[in-house]
Amino acid sequence: MNSRSKKLWGGRFTQATNTMVEKFSASVAFDQRLYRQDIVGSIAHARMLNKVGVISESEFNNIRDGLNRILLQIEAGEFEWSEELEDVHMNIEKRLTDDIGEAGKKLHTGRSRNDQVATDLRLYTRDAVDRIIDEIKGIQLTLLDFADAEAETIMPGYTHLQIAQPIVFGHHLMAWFEMLDRDRQRFTDARKRLNQSPLGAAALAGTSFPIDREMTADELGFDAVMRNSLDAVSDRDFAIEFAAHSAITMVHLSRIGEEMVVWASEAYKLISLSDQFTTGSSIMPQKKNPDIAELVRGKSARTVGNLQTLLVLMKSQPLAYNRDNQEDKEALFDSIDTVIASLEIMHGMIQNLEPDRERMRAAALEGYSTATDLADYLVTRDVPFRDAHAVVGNIIRHCIDKECTLDALSLDDMRHFHPMLDEGALRVIKPEGSVASRDHTGATAPRQVKLAVQEGRKRLG
Ligand code: ARG
Repeated sequence: MNSRSKKLWGGRFTQATNTMVEKFSASVAFDQRLYRQDIVGSIAHARMLNKVGVISESEFNNIRDGLNRILLQIEAGEFEWSEELEDVHMNIEKRLTDDIGEAGKKLHTGRSRNDQVATDLRLYTRDAVDRIIDEIKGIQLTLLDFADAEAETIMPGYTHLQIAQPIVFGHHLMAWFEMLDRDRQRFTDARKRLNQSPLGAAALAGTSFPIDREMTADELGFDAVMRNSLDAVSDRDFAIEFAAHSAITMVHLSRIGEEMVVWASEAYKLISLSDQFTTGSSIMPQKKNPDIAELVRGKSARTVGNLQTLLVLMKSQPLAYNRDNQEDKEALFDSIDTVIASLEIMHGMIQNLEPDRERMRAAALEGYSTATDLADYLVTRDVPFRDAHAVVGNIIRHCIDKECTLDALSLDDMRHFHPMLDEGALRVIKPEGSVASRDHTGATAPRQVKLAVQEGRKRLG
């Protein structure tokens, strides 16, 4: 190391780095969260260097013990990070060398920060994926129990946010289950491509040392080694994929959050949200606001933005590594943090959500939601659907004038509109009769919802 540059890479430099450059290029403030993966990766690399005869057993032991001591210091909050040392990798390596001397200087043999950071990031993202899959599963289990318990609870089903046909609340909850199930599958699928080892690609072309990439891949729990060194150090498609799946998951959570906001509103009053997950107003004493559901809705925006950031960051980058890639971290970490926190809080909100069953049923009736059932019934009595539609339209008109719900009509009232309307018609205009009649796979009959819950349980394993 020369006297003019204090950097680990300072040998060929005669001037010190401009202080602006140091600030501009340092990533340690945000990449220090990779410390655990960095240390585990370095120990695997050093063990392999020893096995192939590049460093001695005692050098490996010193490196391993030194790194483990650093790990403890970092976790105890006793490690001093230095911006001058740029990033997490050089902070840890410099400390190791200061602590153990010569052996520390041999750790970086046969690798580069380029394969090192790609390895750390893949390991970090893999842990996040596993955590997210667990969180999603947790919500899904809650939804299964909830849907089972609410398989007979009548509520209005909506299109265009207008009351359309009666459904059961359990059916709606199972729709959330399915959305989240695809999210879970997407993360599970991404994990396969993510879990491959870039370590050994070195700067870009591999190394002349007789390294054993399979050995380090194995120790780090990777499924395979990446087959091309240029690709291994440069592509961040795994982060893009992760961000895409996170954005889709957050968009799903935003839809659920939006429904909570709408349902809990004074105009709907279909549910109440727990005091634990709502907030008050500093000026209006009566208010209980669904801020948390709104925040989840709002936070989806940043994950969509992070996906955009990572896509644009990668676009047109020539092979192999470019420093642009340092900019991947904040977007990736933000998506990880946001999706995990949102899943956790959404789980709590779902667990504490209370349906107002009477109000749900009443809302379905107020919206004449069994009108289609009545028309379908006339069709079974050989009335063409278009005519049936018109007859029921007249009946609804009558109900609007009389300010009554469909199920309040008597047989005589109905016969007045069509002679084929009989006892059976009285049954289908009740929401219970309506939902029970939608009795096929994927539909809202309570029997089908119970079956969907059983099938969902099997899928979760
Ligand atoms: N901090 C860098 C990053 O996050 C590490 C790799 C630096 N490599 C380099 N050739 N300057 O990408």
